[in-house]
Amino acid sequence: MATKYINIEEPDLPIPVGHLIIGTRLPCKIFIKEANTFKVFLSKDSLHTKMSQNILSEKGISEVYINAEDSMTFDFYLAGNRASHQTLNGGGPVVFKEYAHRKEEYHQIDTALVAAGSSINFGLSVLDKFKFTPLVEASDTFPFVVDESVLDIDGDVVIKKSDVPRYLDYIAALQYPAKLPEGDKAKIRAVALRETSKIVLQNFLADPKSGETIKEMHTLVNDMIDCIMQDRDTIYTLLSLKGYDYYTYTHSVNVAALSVALGVAIDLPRDDLEKLGIGAMFHDVGKSRISHEILNKQGRLSDIEYTVIKNHVNEGEKIVSSHANFPCESLGAVLQHHEKLTGRGYPLGLSGAEISLFGRISAIADCYDALTTRRPYKVAYTPFYALSAISKDTGDYDADLLRTFIKMLGKMNM
Ligand SMILES: [Fe+2]
Ligand SMILES: [Fe+2]
Repeated sequence: MATKYINIEEPDLPIPVGHLIIGTRLPCKIFIKEANTFKVFLSKDSLHTKMSQNILSEKGISEVYINAEDSMTFDFYLAGNRASHQTLNGGGPVVFKEYAHRKEEYHQIDTALVAAGSSINFGLSVLDKFKFTPLVEASDTFPFVVDESVLDIDGDVVIKKSDVPRYLDYIAALQYPAKLPEGDKAKIRAVALRETSKIVLQNFLADPKSGETIKEMHTLVNDMIDCIMQDRDTIYTLLSLKGYDYYTYTHSVNVAALSVALGVAIDLPRDDLEKLGIGAMFHDVGKSRISHEILNKQGRLSDIEYTVIKNHVNEGEKIVSSHANFPCESLGAVLQHHEKLTGRGYPLGLSGAEISLFGRISAIADCYDALTTRRPYKVAYTPFYALSAISKDTGDYDADLLRTFIKMLGKMNM
């Protein structure tokens, strides 16, 4: 039975109501917000029933709240209940399995680059509730002029992998209307840079032998450094919009942007910034050797699976070391982004001064991006909670760098 009383806590991690599974006991207190006041709606271990669900519907509530420290417990609750219940975004395990398989056939794009009036020669689809639905067809022979109504939809806009080269050409040929203010042009340029970097990295993950990609990435990282040095607020544009799911290439571009921005904030020399950016960009390439089944697995990993995941660091080192144009100084980001100053990290359990500067920077960027990323079975932390969570882990991260990082992201919509 739902309990209602005024609460003095201020839980601020929003959870879509759809994440509460009818017929299950709740792993933590669930709050609702009414008239700007948080109230406990369901206590820990109480049963979420059809009746409590109806109360939420009647109140027109689509989001409930939990305390940030309960987010991990809540993730396990979601993962543990997935096998026999509807998944949080609709659809059961079978639908999810099909989705996990099909997601590799698509590439998420940023609709900021396909504004109304743009003529595109690649088709668009939408990903919503684990389903891919075609939105528009287009080709070289039959281009499509985008109108507002096309993009006014729920879900992520994606394109077929086979259309990615056309999308890349489209980005390279983007024209800016003469009347567009300089600030807007700079923003579009940053989005285009981020989108191009994602595709270049995606190609490398599919074919990690390609030395050309590393050369190309040097140019992109330098463009990224220029953007951030010209205007530090560009970091907000360089970070990808949070999509429906996680992709290694999106995460890696975010980690590179955050690492470079932190490097700029601590006045690293230009040459070091480039090496740091390259290392961060390729920090997770070892994941290209892990099966999609393990990478996309919902719920707890077995010990063996966890060992396989952790091994991405060593695999990554092997991949990048085979390329002569990968700077050896950049290896710190690849090898040490999961090390913790307290010695609790992996693969070597290094501690304190044993961890390089690039390892320390990429560890903060990596953790922050992972926490703020949404996955089909995991809620995303808001920037505010991600920063609080990292700060709480006292001792794992470099305190001075962390302070600068928090200050750097201070203007982010928390
Ligand atoms: Fe990693
Ligand atoms: Fe990572």
